[in-house]
Amino acid sequence: MKTTRYSAVSRALHWLIAALIAAAFVLGLTVDDFPKPYVPSVVNFHSLLGLAIIVLTLVRLGWRLTHQPPDLPAATSALIRRASHLAHMLLYLLILLVPMIGIPTLLYRGRGIDFGVFQIPPMLARTPEIFHPLTDVHGYAAYALVALALGHVAAGLYHQFILKDDLLSRMAAGPR
Ligand code: HEM
Ligand code: HEM
Repeated sequence: MKTTRYSAVSRALHWLIAALIAAAFVLGLTVDDFPKPYVPSVVNFHSLLGLAIIVLTLVRLGWRLTHQPPDLPAATSALIRRASHLAHMLLYLLILLVPMIGIPTLLYRGRGIDFGVFQIPPMLARTPEIFHPLTDVHGYAAYALVALALGHVAAGLYHQFILKDDLLSRMAAGPR
């Protein structure tokens, strides 16, 4: 029988990365609301989440390129196929771009990063005229990612509850 679900690896990575993005986004927005002594640890944890997103997304793309995703429902029009493909490519682009812009944003603040078992010391001087605009670009790109992800969720819910084509089960977690 032809599979109609993404593989277990794709589904696990989809949900893990979605959860990490949500956590990184909320921490990024609230970092300045934490008491001052906690800010460096929050920025560090935020950065670790973002670096994990880069690594997991590279694994995910490697898996995606070597494993055929399930066919879309036969009734899907050519236009919708193209639109969903484009939206997914844009999501992947932003999932990688946002944390990649985060790296110089961190370094130009004169910060290093603590992985627990080892540390990367600060390697650039704190340069506000560079890190301020970089933080803005990083933040705007993060908003674009979250906005696109919300559109993606809306499209999924439209399929599930209006078109009633059970699209969500293609990416659903857990055994059938
Ligand atoms: C930060 C949040 C999210 C991001 C970044 C994200 C990203 C992606 C990407 C890149 C794909 C394409 C998979 C591929 O073909 O390689 C995908 C597929 C999918 N996502 Fe999400 N997703 C998010 C949240 C959600 C949520 C909350 C839902 C449920 C409402 C959902 C439902 C789906 C479904 C059903 C598919 C499969 C679409 C198809 O049938 O081809 N996603 N997602
Ligand atoms: C998908 C992953 C990520 C998301 C969604 C995200 C999101 C955000 C958001 C929304 C902000 C607030 C921006 C503003 O105040 O205008 C922020 C700040 C920041 N992010 Fe990220 N980020 C991610 C990954 C990373 C990574 C990988 C790093 C570094 C390695 C990083 C470093 C920073 C730094 C240094 C700040 C400034 C914190 C401060 O105000 O002190 N981010 N991020």
